[in-house]
Amino acid sequence: MSKVTVVGAGNVGATVANVLAHKDVVNEIVLLDIKGDLARGKALDSWQQAPIDYYSTKLKGSDDYADTANSDIVVITAGIPRKPGMSRDDLISTNAKIVNMVTESILKHSDDPIIIVVSNPLDVMTYAAYKASGLASNRVFGMAGILDTARYRAFLATALGVSPKDIQAVLMGGHGDTMVPLPRYTTVAGIPVTEMIGDDDLNAIVERTKKGGGELVKLMGTSAWYAPGAAAAQMVESIVRDEKRIFPCCAYLSGEYGLKDMFLGVPVQLGKNGIEKVLELQLDEAEMELLNTSAQHVRDVMEVYKGMNV
Ligand code: NAI
Ligand code: 2OP
Repeated sequence: MSKVTVVGAGNVGATVANVLAHKDVVNEIVLLDIKGDLARGKALDSWQQAPIDYYSTKLKGSDDYADTANSDIVVITAGIPRKPGMSRDDLISTNAKIVNMVTESILKHSDDPIIIVVSNPLDVMTYAAYKASGLASNRVFGMAGILDTARYRAFLATALGVSPKDIQAVLMGGHGDTMVPLPRYTTVAGIPVTEMIGDDDLNAIVERTKKGGGELVKLMGTSAWYAPGAAAAQMVESIVRDEKRIFPCCAYLSGEYGLKDMFLGVPVQLGKNGIEKVLELQLDEAEMELLNTSAQHVRDVMEVYKGMNV
């Protein structure tokens, strides 16, 4: 059984801790925030839910990194979320410093953890954590693809009037409006989605997916947390149970898809060693072009990050 630290006890971090506790797959979750009482309060609230929902995962809230000692997995959600009118990239100046500081503090107390980054702008914050940690690239990756694919699957389920359980899909690229949902790799109970929905309706869903995060920011004045928190918890579960599930994650690329020294959303296999394999799909020319456009956008944000000299 494992110890998991979640840094940031805000909307997403608290949800990761709560969903993960319900799964009962780890021994202990430490929820850490600079607002110590917020972290302690949310951890206590989740622990008081245990007798009702029947789990025994221990939860501890803290603002002291000593409590994170010997964590097997660390989920970083610390930072600011966007407000209406902001892009994820607008968060870089604040969040880059936070992600660097958090990563360095974690590594003082845990030797070789697996780090899952959630803070935005996701692809570049994952790169920042990777550089700051000095960990192997299979041990640092980001959560975005499971969320973005879930949004795509949920929209399709609504449009087709089927259960979201029956929709399988792959989505690649950066966590931004250039993300690349892949209809050619989308099925409904094994049936190609293109046999069940017309091009115009499918394209409208692809476009809505790309702006799915922004749709929620407009509705709520801040970004989403239920689906993001559940997505990160699902990644932790696949690792601690060594399930070797295949998910789209933000992974370090060293030549896959012709891209290197950057993090981007690609399908990977997640097991006890973190990313155990990056899957290389046979993308056609149009899909590859969309992926390259998305990669270029991430590179542009990486340049901003590198210019900050954090
Ligand atoms: P929030 O504002 O509810 O929570 C953030 C928490 O981070 C706050 O409690 C704050 O006190 C804490 N924090 C700030 N600086 C810290 C530090 N140095 N050390 C420890 N804790 C610190 O924000 P929310 O909604 O939880 O979002 C968190 C991040 O996750 C944002 O950057 C957001 O854009 C990102 N996000 C990413 C998603 C993805 O798909 N990758 C999905 C949803 C959100
Ligand atoms: C989302 O997609 C803001 O990245 C966050 O909801």
